[in-house]
Amino acid sequence: MRRDDGPSETEGRLETVGLVPAALARALASAGRVVVLTGAGVSAESGIPTFRDALTGLWARYDPLDLATPAAFERQPRLVWDWYAMRREAVLVAEPNAGHDALVEMERRVPAFLVATQNVDGLHARAGTRSLVELHGNIARVRCSRDHGVVDRWDPPPSDEPPRCPHCRAFLRPDVVWFDEMLPADALARAEDEAQRADLMIVAGTSAEVHPAASLPLMAKAAGARVVEVNPGETPLSRLADYTLRERAGVALPALVAAAWPAGDHGRGSSPAARAPGGGAK
Ligand code: APR
Repeated sequence: MRRDDGPSETEGRLETVGLVPAALARALASAGRVVVLTGAGVSAESGIPTFRDALTGLWARYDPLDLATPAAFERQPRLVWDWYAMRREAVLVAEPNAGHDALVEMERRVPAFLVATQNVDGLHARAGTRSLVELHGNIARVRCSRDHGVVDRWDPPPSDEPPRCPHCRAFLRPDVVWFDEMLPADALARAEDEAQRADLMIVAGTSAEVHPAASLPLMAKAAGARVVEVNPGETPLSRLADYTLRERAGVALPALVAAAWPAGDHGRGSSPAARAPGGGAK
């Protein structure tokens, strides 16, 4: 894959395949390495609230400092445990949506592909994404708060405490990354490495405010990748994006796949979008 010289002024603006600029469809259809950074917005259409959307976002109803920090767990372990148990129930009944499915399709077609998600809901894996790093952990897992070992069986706790680790009796906690905590080093290293080698970085459904995840598109851009933002709203990343799809992920991501690989196209480089203007194959 060669790094394309990006959308020419007219191409990027005028020629579109549905809501997708034709130059973007071509860039995706011929991309060798694609990284997708996802956030809570990608799961919004599965009925899981985002964090920062006014009123509906979790942080509009709860103070993250009371629920998603080691200090909060220290202060009120049972309250934190119950809050994550409530969210875990909601996640377990949710289903992946068309946005998740489109990324599975993209993975099938792009030679080197990675989804780096901030979501702890496990919906990418449930949709079938295989090349995946969960930067903020996974709410379906529980671990010991002392040795961090994942635990899958525990005795029912007394009402005022979280359950305790069957090995060392320390409290159990959700296997997610709280504020003031480090991301899993291997997951972050892989995401950073792939971001710096990407031809195309798609950033979908994130407010791009929480680092280090929000730095990944900046790294990719600095290394020459084209950045695509998929978000109905503006974010700090919007001014850096080469392409912007101001649309919900459940609409924009399937549209992106359909534009890059129109129906009946089973491989790369044979789609109309991949042909240079004037119809000749590249
Ligand atoms: N499709 C695409 N984007 C959407 C949709 C949708 N259907 N609905 C909302 N959005 C966008 C919003 O405009 C917003 O920019 O998704 C973004 C959600 O942002 P946040 O709620 O801040 O979620 P996220 O970026 O994932 O948060 C990052 O912060 O709270 C911590 O650890 C938590 O992983 C989380 C991290």
